[in-house]
This record gives sequence, C-alpha cells and structure tokens, in this order.
Amino acid sequence: MSETSATNQQRRTFLGILLGGVGATLGAVFAWPVFRFLAPRETGGAGSLVRVAKKDVQVGGAFFFNYKGHPAVVLQPKAGDYIALTAVCTHLGCIVKWVNEKGEFLCPCHGGRFSATGQVLGGPPPRPLETYSVKIEETDLVVG
Ligand code: FES
Repeated sequence: MSETSATNQQRRTFLGILLGGVGATLGAVFAWPVFRFLAPRETGGAGSLVRVAKKDVQVGGAFFFNYKGHPAVVLQPKAGDYIALTAVCTHLGCIVKWVNEKGEFLCPCHGGRFSATGQVLGGPPPRPLETYSVKIEETDLVVG
C-alpha cells in the first residue's frame, strides 16, 4: 500500500467517524423533543398523597380537590365514612357534579349518573368512577 493510499484511507476513516458523531448528535437533538412529547406525563407515583382536612368534608356532602393533576372528590355519606373518587366521567371525560338532593353524581355533558360509590346509575358512561383509598387521620384524610 502506498503512502498516499494509506493517507486517503485514514482520511476516510476520520471523516466516517466525524460524520457518524455529527449524525448521532443531530439525531439525539431531534429525537429528544419527540420522546418528551410522547412519554407519559409524571403523575406523582406512590409519593403523591393528597391531604384533605376532615372539616372540609361535610356529612352528606362532597369536597372537590385536585389529585395527580385531575379533579377528584371525597364524600362522607355517613359520619366517619369517607369515599374518594375521580371526578372525571368515564364516558368522555367531563367533570361530574355532586347533586346533594339526590345523593348522586351527574355528568353535565351527556347526563351520565353515578352513585355515591361511583357506580353507573344511568346514561352513557361505560364504567364506574375510579375510587381512591382514603386513610383517616386525626384531622386529615390522606387520599392516594
Ligand atoms: S362525558 Fe359524562 S356522560 Fe358523557
């Protein structure tokens, strides 16, 4: 192999490595925003417990709050008995309202109805409302 041929080979190898590095860097630069867009959002995981003051949840009433970035509600159907549910309708995602006189949830979008425990009573919702665990402490409820 001549000296010129060896130099050309080294030059090709160097350019190949250089172009490969530039290509990998550009690929990462353009792929990262796409990955971030498609990746699931951080919802808090096991460490995202929400505290609700017991005094805010009246017997027979409902208290709406934010749980992991979504509307949720806690009820006290009987004294000392608490239920926490998502407030997002399982039909198309509207936020349900508590109808105190009827003791049930009503979805204002298409008339879906849910019991105080989240069971479907009528309308188009295909599934019950998701329930959350509630831990009762001295002055607070810990939801999650
Ligand atoms: S979104 Fe609730 S009934 Fe349609």
